[in-house]
This record gives sequence, C-alpha cells and structure tokens, in this order.
Amino acid sequence: MPAPSDILIHAHDGDYRVRVGDGTFTALMDASDDPVIVDAALVDAVGHPDRVIPFEAVESRKTLAGVEEIIEALRDRGVTRGRSLIAVGGGIVQDVATAAASLYMRGLPWRYVPTTVLAMVDSCIGGKSSLNVGPYKNLAGNFHPPAEVVIDPRFIATLDDEARAGGLCEAMKITFCRGDGAYARYLDLVAAMRTDGEGAAPLIAHALASKKWFIEIDEFDQAERRQLNFGHTFAHALEAATGFGVSHGIAVGIGTVAAERLAVAVDGPEHARPELVAEAVRLVRQAGDLRARLAALDRERFRTAFLADKKHGADGLHVILPAHGGTTQERVLARSDVTLRTLEQALDEAIAMMVDP
Ligand SMILES: NC(=O)c1ccc[n+]([C@@H]2O[C@H](COP(=O)([O-])OP(=O)(O)OC[C@H]3O[C@@H](n4cnc5c(N)ncnc54)[C@H](O)[C@@H]3O)[C@@H](O)[C@H]2O)c1
Repeated sequence: MPAPSDILIHAHDGDYRVRVGDGTFTALMDASDDPVIVDAALVDAVGHPDRVIPFEAVESRKTLAGVEEIIEALRDRGVTRGRSLIAVGGGIVQDVATAAASLYMRGLPWRYVPTTVLAMVDSCIGGKSSLNVGPYKNLAGNFHPPAEVVIDPRFIATLDDEARAGGLCEAMKITFCRGDGAYARYLDLVAAMRTDGEGAAPLIAHALASKKWFIEIDEFDQAERRQLNFGHTFAHALEAATGFGVSHGIAVGIGTVAAERLAVAVDGPEHARPELVAEAVRLVRQAGDLRARLAALDRERFRTAFLADKKHGADGLHVILPAHGGTTQERVLARSDVTLRTLEQALDEAIAMMVDP
C-alpha cells in the first residue's frame, strides 16, 4: 500500500493536515476512542457501534434542528470539554458536524473523514458549514475548520456512478480554475482512476492542492476564492429548476459548459474551451440518461433562482467565465432581458451537448 500523502492547510485559527491514502480511516479509528458522527448509510461500513452517532444524510435534516439533535446526542453520551469528535460522511454530515462541533460546549476540535468524491476533492477543506433554513438552501453557516481531514479513497467503491461522476465534475472545475497546467494534470490523473477508488489518491491530492491555493489566499470568500463559483450560478439555478432532480456535482458539470457557452456569446469565440467541454460531457453522461430530468426544467424557476444568487451585486449579475488565455474571470452582466435570453441560450446549448446522441 503506498504511503499516505499529506497536505497542510493554513486557516485563520490554525493549520490543519489533510492525509490522503488507502487504509487511513482504519488507522484513525484504531488510534482514538472519540465519538463518531456517521452518515446513517455507512454505519455498517464504519463499525465501532459503541462510538457511533448516526445521522441521516438528507437535505431536509441539514438544518439547525439537525445540529441540535447531534448536540443532544453528544450530551447524552457525556461528551465533555477536552474531547474531540470524528465525523464520517459526505457534505451533509460535514455541514452539520462543522456546526455542531463549533457550538457544543462553545466548540470542540473535530476530525473529518469525507466519504463522497465531492467531499474528498472539494468541500472537506475550507472549514465552512452551510445549513438549510426553511425553503432556503445553505442560508446559515459559520467557519470551524477540522483539526484534521483523513481521506480514505476506499469509500468511493460504494458510491453510484452519478455520485462519483458528480464529484469529479468539482475536481475538473477546481483544477480548471487553477490554470492550464493544473487542468492538464487533472486529465492525466482522472484517466488513471478506477471506479472502485483504486488510483484516486493522487487525483484527490491534486484537486485539494489546487483548491488550497484559493482558500489560503482568500479564506473568507472576498476575492480569488470567488473564481471557484465557476459553473455554480448555473448549477444552483438548474438544481432548483429541476426540483433537485439533477444532483449538485452533475449540475456543476452542466453549469461549467453553460458558462463556457456564455463566455463565447458575450466575449467572443476565442473564449471557447473545447478541452473543458469534452471532459464535462464525458462526466455528465456517466450519470445516465438525463433527458427526462432535464425536460422537467422549469424556465421561470431557473430565471428566479439565477437572479437570486447571492453573488450578484447592485452593479449587475456576477458570473465566473473562462478567461481568454486560461483560468477564469469574474464578469458583470447587465440585468436585462437580453442577458437573461443569452443565459438561457447558453444553458440550452450545454444541455443539448449532454443529452444529444
Ligand atoms: N460546506 C461546504 O463547504 C460544502 C461544499 C460543497 C457542498 N456542500 C454540501 O454538501 C452536500 C452534498 O454532499 P455530498 O455530495 O458529499 O453527499 P451527501 O452528504 O449529500 O450524501 C449523498 C448521498 O450519498 C450517500 N453516501 C455518502 N457516502 C457514501 C459512500 N461512501 N457510499 C455510498 N453512499 C454514500 C449518503 O448517505 C447520501 O445518501 C450538499 O448539502 C452541499 O450543500 C458543502
């Protein structure tokens, strides 16, 4: 078994290590007796029933009430100050565990084991929690980075094709935003990864090293880190407009192509990035036939959700588009019917590429 690789992340309240490698999860569990907040679907895979607090990973429970439930379970188990926690799961468990760890007895250190590709390559670093409030997704949250992130690619083996491909869409996006060299390396590494997670460790480490640059230079999302929203304004609107029938990572894959099409429409054909489009189409098609789900797209909801994105300003609609010569740039487009029509046309072109034979 190859030795794990370590990445050090600098955050405002201390540095933390990300360890990537096969077998790292077992080593972590054997080395501590910390209570473990676990995605309920993974309880059997995790073992250690005496230490486990199961949490059902569904969006409707990624709420303040869900956090309260975990806090209560920690109290019931007699967890005191001076202890630390482990959380095992995808982004939902990460979000509630971040919030619970930050609030329980005014904050305990915690370690995070991401179990989806999306969480492994992206959300596990950055330290943010995002909670749903009523009908609003990710409206509330805070920063409480883990003391350590432990990534064991063996968890990938039980993910379905859509979850795996969706996570890879995020890795594609991050490395594209970082620059041509990072993106070319992503293409090499993704070709070497198997669906059971074999060969995934170098790809995960590469995506995280690419994201590290953005979050260290701009931890609180004020400037450079905003580039990572590439594809996301389209993706969030697409998720909402399909009643969340398209999963987040897959929506990001479609959103990056829509953003590329928009750049060509507003900035000219030299902004086309065929190497990005080809990879996004390859990944999105792994999610299976999306025709029915995309046909259910509600245009009015798409427009409303796109316009409601919190990244827009009084000066216009803020979108991240491919820049001429590589990476991405933030562009401000006028709030107008013409812009909305252009956005929708870009989305339609992207969707056609994903579903046409
Ligand atoms: N805080 C952040 O920085 C951040 C960043 C990106 C996304 N998110 C949030 O993350 C959430 C999405 O997270 P996600 O896509 O990682 O997954 P998830 O936590 O939503 O889980 C999706 C499904 O996969 C299952 N699952 C998890 N690991 C598995 C495994 N190894 N094998 C089989 N099934 C498994 C879960 O039980 C669940 O049914 C969204 O709520 C999103 O808002 C947060």
